[in-house]
Amino acid sequence: MTTSSSSGKIILFGEHAVVYGRPAIAVPVSHLRASATITAAPPGSRCTLFAQDMGEEIHLADAPPDHPLALVLRLALDEANIRTEPDWHILLASQIPIASGLGSGAAISAALVRAVLTHAGQPAPPDTISRLVYRSEELFHGTPSGIDNTVIAHERPVWFVKGRPPQPFAVGAPFTIAIADSGIVSPTKETVGDVRRAWEADPAPYEATFSRIADVVHGARRAIHDGNCAAIGALMNLNQSRLAELGVSSPALERLIAAAKDAGAVGAKLSGGGRGGNVIALVDEDSAGAVQAALLATGAKRVLFTQISQTSSGEFSG
Ligand code: PMV
Repeated sequence: MTTSSSSGKIILFGEHAVVYGRPAIAVPVSHLRASATITAAPPGSRCTLFAQDMGEEIHLADAPPDHPLALVLRLALDEANIRTEPDWHILLASQIPIASGLGSGAAISAALVRAVLTHAGQPAPPDTISRLVYRSEELFHGTPSGIDNTVIAHERPVWFVKGRPPQPFAVGAPFTIAIADSGIVSPTKETVGDVRRAWEADPAPYEATFSRIADVVHGARRAIHDGNCAAIGALMNLNQSRLAELGVSSPALERLIAAAKDAGAVGAKLSGGGRGGNVIALVDEDSAGAVQAALLATGAKRVLFTQISQTSSGEFSG
């Protein structure tokens, strides 16, 4: 039996501009995890995926080519040089809320790839996992920058520029982020598509905003490195203004952001695709409870906390 797991994620700075080659910062949410467990099944039973949370049972042989989980499994089997369908039962489970910007799909895919490679007795380096998860993200989410699969595969804070290897960066002092689910479903594909259409129609102002977001992200890296909480919060607020210029905020998200700040958050912004999904707020020990209460009172469906810290130092391994 083999069990592998992967974390959720959250984008701290730079969403949308990252699609246009600017840097972004994302962090794992390690206490929310997805797992894949492979057990040998009796000979001839072939390969079945049990996706517990979705109540789905997928027989690999019968799954259409574009079934997301079957696709990831086929890619992983191919990578592991397994050419005939194995007799496996694969149980998928996840604590990560679905479709809420916490990377649940990428985390389940990453856990599945890691479990297949490990069960096959092969190394499962983060870069390989990231590459395979990206292939599935690409098919189902249009033109992803690759930030989700990268942060989830490496499970550490990443400085990400599309098409380049991710860079680790220093976290000078731990800080705490409240993650509030607006409860509004807003597919990332749609907001990314809207920004793209607007950029195509009139590139100059959008390019200027993307570059101003890049300045914010560079500032955030320095502030995180220095452990300067006030600066991190101010930069979150600035990033939010720029995201609003791109047209990906919404009145409901602005209400949540204002509520968090009024309750003492150092800074707040949307995270991910926008118009729905999550709002994140930088809190300290004194404000955490009040910010959580304010977000819930303003309509958030759920508020989670995650601490960002230097999980490990040094280089990324391949
Ligand atoms: O909605 P999320 O959390 O998967 O984030 C999307 C981030 C974007 O920058 C908007 C798109 C991308 O592919 O990077």
